[in-house]
Formats: sequence, C-alpha cells, structure tokens
Amino acid sequence: MRVLGIETSCDETCVAIYDDNIGLLTNEIYSQTELHSYYGGVVPELASRDHVQKIIPLISSSLKKAKLEPYQLDGIAYTAGPGLVGSLLVGVTVGRTLAFSWNIPAVPVHHMEGHIMSPMLEHNNLTFPFLALLISGGHTQLVSVNGIGSYKIIGESLDDAAGEAFDKIARLLGIKYPGGATLSKIAKNGKKNRFIFPRPMINDDSLNFSFSGLKTFAANTINKNNKDDQTISDIARAFEDAIIETLLIKCRRALKQTGLKKLVLAGGVSANCTLRNRMSDMITEIKGEIFYSIPELCTDNAAMIAYVGMLRINTDNCKELSITVYPRWSLTELSSI
Ligand code: KG4
Ligand code: ZN
Repeated sequence: MRVLGIETSCDETCVAIYDDNIGLLTNEIYSQTELHSYYGGVVPELASRDHVQKIIPLISSSLKKAKLEPYQLDGIAYTAGPGLVGSLLVGVTVGRTLAFSWNIPAVPVHHMEGHIMSPMLEHNNLTFPFLALLISGGHTQLVSVNGIGSYKIIGESLDDAAGEAFDKIARLLGIKYPGGATLSKIAKNGKKNRFIFPRPMINDDSLNFSFSGLKTFAANTINKNNKDDQTISDIARAFEDAIIETLLIKCRRALKQTGLKKLVLAGGVSANCTLRNRMSDMITEIKGEIFYSIPELCTDNAAMIAYVGMLRINTDNCKELSITVYPRWSLTELSSI
C-alpha cells in the first residue's frame, strides 16, 4: 500500500510518500522560516498564502521523485488539525480534492498522533504500550499510549509549550526565529551553573508543566546582564538545563506512576541532542527503552502523516466528502482502531 501524506498545519509545506513494503519513498519539506523570521514568529495569513503556492508543485515533484503516477497511490493522508486554520485548509482542500478526483480514500490525520507514531517509521521494535513525551512549538504533553487512538493525557503544560519557551527566550537573546535549535547550539559554549534558573512545578505531585515563570526569570536575567557572547551562552545554557531537567523529572515520575518502561520522545524539541542524551541516561538507569527519530522526522513532516494515514485508511471518516479542519483537536477525541 502506498499513501501520499500532506502536512500544512503551521509554517512548513510537507509532502511524503510511504510504501508499507519499502518504507519512505520521498519526504519533502519546504520551510517558510525565512518568510516569518522578520516578524519573529509565524504570521498566519502569510503562511497559508505560501502553502497555496508550494503545495501542488511539491506533490508533483514528489510523485516524479518516487517515479509514481497518481493511479499507483492507495490513499491520501492530510493533517486536519490541530494547527492554524488557514494553513490547515490548504492541505485539507488539496488532499480531499485530489483523492476525490483520483478515486482513492482521503484520511484526516491528527498532527500530534503523527508525532507520537513517527519513531515507528525507523524502529519496528517499538510496540504498545509506551509513554510519549510530546514536545513541540504548540504542545508539551505526557501521553500514556495503549494503541492507535488510545491515548490518555497524564500531564501537560498549563501555559507555554516547551518549544514556544525556547523560541521566545531565543528571540530575547537576539537569535532569529525559530530559535530553539540555535539556542541549543549556543548553550554548548555556556558555563554550567553561572546562572541557575528555577525548575518549575517539580515539587508538586502532578505531571503538569509551566514554563511562563521560567521565561520571566530568563527575561529578567537577560535584562540585568551584559549581552557579551559568553553571557548569552551562559544564559542559554541555564535556560536549556532548566527546561531539560524539568522534562526529565516529570518523565521519570510518569514512568514510575504508570509502570511503563518504554519512552518515546517526539515533536520538534525532541531533536535536541542534550535532551536526548539526558533522557537516554535516565532510561538506562531504570532499565527501560527509549525511542526517538532522526531530527528531520522530529520536526514537522508529512512522513508521519502518511504513516498514520496508512494505519487509519479503512476508518469511517475516510468516506466523508466535506472539507473539515480541526484547529483545536484533542488527542483524546480520536477513536481507537
Ligand atoms: O514539532 P515542530 O516542528 O512544530 C510544531 O508542531 O510546533 O516543533 C517546532 C519547535 C520549535 O519551537 C523549535 O524551536 C523547536 O521545535 N526545536 C528545538 C530544536 N529543534 C527544534 N528546540 C530545542 N532544541 C532543538 N534542537
Ligand atoms: Zn509538530
């Protein structure tokens, strides 16, 4: 079975083709970061207009690259939510229209379900149940995953998402949007413990997160100090250490509370090497297993959408004809298969 995946939920136009015998045939990403960096964040109207221009050429070039004709596809999977309404509408409209005209099923996919399953693209030893730490620009969630569509959110951020906090502090440090990856690079030159930032909410029993206080603490530290290169690196280091340690403490607690031994790291922030190393050390300590993707499959991509589409291709909502987007869509609303 071959499924074409389309992802346009935010500021990346992505197209991929997944074949269940061979694996990924293509995984194309057109990033709009240049377009938005001037504004320091995603401008929704510009994002959707750019998706309109890029999506059809990207689908044509992906088919060409995979040496496939449309009749050789068995379905089209597209991100139906959550995300920016205008951006989602582009992918949903194109996905459903092409599927209708090519007479193949069109499968709406939940963006975060795509992230949860993404390590399965590379690791066929990843089996249910497991704990997923979803850390992206819009979400920070701990999810107990029992199967496809069987999700229990056991912890989440009460305010900013981890990626959002990375991007906001990066901006205050003078780093171009989206700053998460660059902040992490700069933090490598930072002196440990020159600044010590708070680890929010680690002393309560919950598995929830809050990053807004940490953000304010970082902003005040930036305002009070010189902006020389070493100080910028030291602040970046203190901030990254605080976020990672907070995520680590909550993950360890969630594994203990649920009795799960397998941990999946997913979403853009899971591309962070320091985080991956610290989490791997913790998992070795508890004799568990850890799974994460190569960096290009951690950040937004259509490979994960095509993969989930393949899993869900026979479900009922493939038959509906309406163009529907779900800008706010909880994982817990999904049906299990
Ligand atoms: O999953 P994703 O690509 O998009 C959303 O669904 O939000 O995540 C993007 C987020 C951005 O906030 C970006 O700064 C962050 O992931 N990110 C990182 C790293 N690479 C991407 N944050 C920290 N360290 C990284 N290496
Ligand atoms: Zn994402």
